Amino acid sequence: MRLSDFTWRPLGRKAPVVAGLDLAVEPGERVLLVGPSGAGKSTILHGLAGALGTTLAGELTGTAEVDGRLGLLLQNPADAIVAEHLGRDVAFGLENASVPRSEMWPRVDAALDRVGLGVYGRHHFTAALSGGEQQRLALAGVLVLEPDVLLLDEPTSMLDDATATSVRQAILDAAGDRTMVVVEHRIGPWLEHVDRVVVLSSDGEVVSDGSVASFLAGPAPAGVWMPGLPTPEPLAVPADLVRPADALGVTAEDVVADLTTRTLRGVQRTRALDGFTAVLAPGTTTALTGPSGAGKSTALAVIGGLRKPTNGRVTPDLASRRTLELATSVGWVPQNPEHGFLTLKVADEVARTAGRVGRSVDAAAVLDVFGLGGLADAHPYRLSGGEQRRLALAAALAHRPSVVLLDEPTVGQDPGTWAAVTGWVAAARDAGATVAVSTHDPDLPRDVEHRLEAGVSS
Ligand SMILES: Nc1ncnc2c1ncn2[C@@H]1O[C@H](COP(=O)(O)OP(=O)(O)OP(=O)(O)O)[C@@H](O)[C@H]1O
Ligand SMILES: [Mg+2]
Repeated sequence: MRLSDFTWRPLGRKAPVVAGLDLAVEPGERVLLVGPSGAGKSTILHGLAGALGTTLAGELTGTAEVDGRLGLLLQNPADAIVAEHLGRDVAFGLENASVPRSEMWPRVDAALDRVGLGVYGRHHFTAALSGGEQQRLALAGVLVLEPDVLLLDEPTSMLDDATATSVRQAILDAAGDRTMVVVEHRIGPWLEHVDRVVVLSSDGEVVSDGSVASFLAGPAPAGVWMPGLPTPEPLAVPADLVRPADALGVTAEDVVADLTTRTLRGVQRTRALDGFTAVLAPGTTTALTGPSGAGKSTALAVIGGLRKPTNGRVTPDLASRRTLELATSVGWVPQNPEHGFLTLKVADEVARTAGRVGRSVDAAAVLDVFGLGGLADAHPYRLSGGEQRRLALAAALAHRPSVVLLDEPTVGQDPGTWAAVTGWVAAARDAGATVAVSTHDPDLPRDVEHRLEAGVSS
């Protein structure tokens, strides 16, 4: 693959995000592409895949050449789901390539097994998958094609350690001696499996490119999780930005939550929580942990009154409050950050909830903390993955809610933006907020941990 003098200015941006880039990848090479959030990593993968100027609007100059068929795993797995059932979803690429049916289904089943979704079977609804399961489904859709070139954008970002290890192995098995470019922030586990590390600066320039040994011997580049370095200190965030109006604890007792997924062709029920009990006190951070699909996001939704429990009790009963009242006291960031966006501009997004609930907010100060100051006029949908997640946090928390519920808040962050996110969480807790996060990040500071196992809490 070769990018030559490659320049991309997305629609709506004054300056290019990648300018005059030259990058060549030899057949069979395994490259790890790293750099700060917003550096241009996904942009480069999209460039190699031919998506810039076609599915993404903007101005493209220079050339991108690829020799062979390629498979691209998108950073946001929800963007890749095309079908109602797991089987049809994974088969989509094969159908497009006119692979005969007799050959197709065995390949689909093998791909589902590879990513650990075989237990559900082909007929499970895609709409009933957790975030980490969606990520693995999207990967199955890429691996099943046996492409010559694998382009993988943060393939394990939403997985717990054990699942990430098995998914990484599945990727490496499928890659064999094929060409692979993988983007990831937590690079440690990849280093022994790649030949080369390309590091981008925050303005999309290649600042180093060489063997893993030379990368490890060099100085730690800005915005890269260099193995062996201590975890960054959470940023000091002013209490005035986060202090809630009142204290509001939440207790969940013996909660059962059955999720019903309805589609035109049927109904599927999943018991996502069974006997979930937790006491969330003001001034504490509770981490909900556990394997992919264990019910963490459902637990957050139940705590925050966004979903009524099938059985059991949540006190106070936030689910019966009116929307505006709920929004005043609860700040919630969904696992897929775009799902919360309501406006056309980053600055408006941050002021939106505060405006509705009648609280003043210093939008510029909030955006600065989250490293989004330069993007105030950008469209919320036209941001990098890490930027979108930080915007969702800023938008949900700017009005200083008493209960802060965050679904995987540190996914896709570099050390600097990680410190901003964890700094906000710590400051809100210190100022008396009741904080609960669903997370696979062992470094995220917490006071209490609840580990969920396949829908059963302990
Ligand atoms: N669809 C889009 N339209 C306009 N600008 C975009 C779009 N997607 C990303 N950008 C901008 O392009 C720059 C590079 O984004 P890119 O997604 O390539 O970063 P990244 O290195 O993958 O970051 P992350 O680690 O957060 O995923 C950022 O400034 C971002 O705001
Ligand atoms: Mg990205």
